[in-house]
Amino acid sequence: MREGSHVIVLPFPGQGHITPMSQFCKRLASKGLQLTLVLVSDKPTPPYKTEDDSITVFPIPNGFQEGEEPLEDLDDYMERVETSIKNSLPKLIEDMKLSGNHPRALVYDSTMPWLLDVAHSYGLRGAVFFTQPWLVTAIYYHVFKGSFSVPPTKYDHSTLASFPSFPMLSANDLPSFLCESSSYPNILRIVVDQLSNIDQVDILLCNTFDKLEEKVLKWVQSLWPVLNIGPMVPSMYLDKRLSEDKSYGFSLFNAKVTECIEWLNSKQPNSVVYVSFGSLVILKEDQMMELAEGLKQTGRFFLWVVRETETDKIPRNFVDEIGEKGLIVSWSPQLEVLAHESIGCFLTHCGWNSMSEGLSLGVPMIGMPHWTDQPTNAKFMEDVWKVGVRVKAEGDGLVRREEIVRRVGEVMEGEKGKEIRKNAEKWKVLAQDAVSEGGSSDKSIDKFVSMF
Ligand code: UDX
Repeated sequence: MREGSHVIVLPFPGQGHITPMSQFCKRLASKGLQLTLVLVSDKPTPPYKTEDDSITVFPIPNGFQEGEEPLEDLDDYMERVETSIKNSLPKLIEDMKLSGNHPRALVYDSTMPWLLDVAHSYGLRGAVFFTQPWLVTAIYYHVFKGSFSVPPTKYDHSTLASFPSFPMLSANDLPSFLCESSSYPNILRIVVDQLSNIDQVDILLCNTFDKLEEKVLKWVQSLWPVLNIGPMVPSMYLDKRLSEDKSYGFSLFNAKVTECIEWLNSKQPNSVVYVSFGSLVILKEDQMMELAEGLKQTGRFFLWVVRETETDKIPRNFVDEIGEKGLIVSWSPQLEVLAHESIGCFLTHCGWNSMSEGLSLGVPMIGMPHWTDQPTNAKFMEDVWKVGVRVKAEGDGLVRREEIVRRVGEVMEGEKGKEIRKNAEKWKVLAQDAVSEGGSSDKSIDKFVSMF
């Protein structure tokens, strides 16, 4: 690496993307690279330096006026974000060059593949960053190549799909937009387009680690040289001897840190069910009711994240009824929570960040996948890594309260629970090994740094 080598990192503006990519910035900065993190924001501020001075954050507008609702039309959203980035990024790069601080690469989110052309036209290397695992990217690749056809109507649930190096998948295990392609054609196009120019990309990065996806990875590596640099969890959570700053990337939400941790501190080890569905999942009112009743009926302590936009769906009187048994917060410090000894299991939507955080911290999981990559992540969590179970929905799509109670019991006690805990411990160690000095992910990061 040349002294002062400089790299730009640009995540898609969603928490599940900003979190791992900003954490990647921190890792690179700790290895001596100079970093600019470009954040697409609805309220951009002037550029600033992170507290430890290691990263320059450069907020740019998302192309929406104040008061406009960005998520109503995904195509419109993607188009405005693209236009806005194309208006701001070239000037930013030119200004950097003029000041003698020539960036050498653009690390960009896989959902914005057109950024590769932008990088190349300004003489930068293009490094694509996949926030989802290879097991999902590989499936999208087969769709892109036409070696797996998406049916024009909704999948028949008895359909089985076979991919090289994969266990057999049922329709229920496939990324959701493949099964519902007719309802979400635009989203299907966006996820498959991630692969549109993959053969021209200079560097491929993924938030995973070699051991975790060993089989699929062999197949992936027969196509491209890839660098697996995950799990993107601050190293101090993985190895208590390390002092890397605790803060986890950049958050679009305000976590109730003290409230959560003080409440957890008063609980016995392995006694609390932690429930969180990430930054995007929206549950129907009847599903919220089943979940709430299920949690209550477990008779166990639970910490439940219900985002501000979802709070209206909490059943009336529920908070009074549960009393001391449950704490509901609008956003938690998830890593601190998962690392807390009182946590007995994690009821999760199986978003890739949540999954890799749970895995790295050795927390048994109950998967309640919602959409995108989550069903496939859940399948591997249950059947390949064997660190949890997946809830079963009824024919009407609802997961009933009895099922929640049953699955929480299964994971928190009994023989199966013990087996799951043992496997979870095993994966925790493997994740720690990957990011420790000389581990597979650490070496991949070193390799990336040495390219500049
Ligand atoms: C989405 C997809 O689900 C995911 O699979 C994809 O790869 C990236 O975008 P999201 O649905 O928000 O992300 O879930 P997840 O990937 O789990 O990311 C959520 C992040 O928010 C996690 O890093 C989690 O630690 C954090 N979080 C969540 C909190 O810090 N506090 C909370 O209360 C809830």
